[in-house]
Amino acid sequence: MTPHNSVLAHEVMAHFQPIVNRPGGVVVDGTLGAGGHSEALLRAGVAHIIGMDQDHHALQLAQARLHPFVGQVDFVQANFVDMPYHAQQLGYDQVDGILLDIGVSSMQLDEKERGFSFMHDGQLDMRMNQGQTLTAQEVVNTWNVTELADIFMRFGEEKYSRHLANVIVENRPFGTTRQLATVIEARKPAQWKEKIHPATRIFQALRIAVNRELDVLEATLPKAIELLAPGGRLAVITFHSLEDRIVKQRFKEATVDCICPPKQPVCTCDKRATVEALTRKPIVPTADEVERNPRSRSAKLRIVEKLP
Ligand SMILES: C[S@@+](CC[C@H](N)C(=O)[O-])C[C@H]1O[C@@H](n2cnc3c(N)ncnc32)[C@H](O)[C@@H]1O
Repeated sequence: MTPHNSVLAHEVMAHFQPIVNRPGGVVVDGTLGAGGHSEALLRAGVAHIIGMDQDHHALQLAQARLHPFVGQVDFVQANFVDMPYHAQQLGYDQVDGILLDIGVSSMQLDEKERGFSFMHDGQLDMRMNQGQTLTAQEVVNTWNVTELADIFMRFGEEKYSRHLANVIVENRPFGTTRQLATVIEARKPAQWKEKIHPATRIFQALRIAVNRELDVLEATLPKAIELLAPGGRLAVITFHSLEDRIVKQRFKEATVDCICPPKQPVCTCDKRATVEALTRKPIVPTADEVERNPRSRSAKLRIVEKLP
């Protein structure tokens, strides 16, 4: 299994430096994964981490890795959308930093039993939270053509969504990742010219649907901003344009004062900016990082700071 290389770690650390120096500073790592970012934060001097992951296997790995910092880390198996509740349960009404490194880890991709990748043959599962009931197998074997085409279009931006949804419905049931990828490859549209495997965007869409990734991200960002103490920072790393668009949009909304129609002479909305953007454009990995870790190539980092 490939160990997970923390993406944009240097850049996250540079922007979290003011937090590192806060006495008693608390950071929520909402996507603990293998614990790489948290380890870097703790080594730099962050006082306390609330480490969350919905995958119990990831939490076990992170617990082993962060053992030297026992007492400085609370491990929480939960979805990051519930971070305000868990922070409060642990006694924190506000926190100084929040990191979300969205998506799947290398461990999840490489464990064939998790069914995230058609590079390995495993059950069509794709659940990040092993306790959840909905699996990719249930989606491909029971959803109708319209429902499948809809997620392939919305979460995969797949232009042949209807064709591929029909192919799936005509050839199901499917049990494994390879069965699904093989049928998609064999029945790809005659016009297919792209270099990527025709199952790539279908797998992305299935994963997003199974884990409700975009809805969760949308719902989390305002809550995360709310949870930050003045001067606290929220950093979000995304891996595809659908996620980055949500982060960009939500951050933009949070940075503006008034959202009344431009022609309205007096503001009646009372909306006030809650954060300042620290990154006008997203930070992307250096060529050197991409060479060392090709999985980082599509990463984008955006950061905001809570206003007083
Ligand atoms: C890219 S990895 C994080 C790697 C980590 N930053 C490191 O340095 O090792 C993403 C992790 O976030 C978790 N995750 C994704 N969405 C989540 C959610 N909504 N709530 C909790 N954990 C989530 C996944 O299970 C996975 O372990």
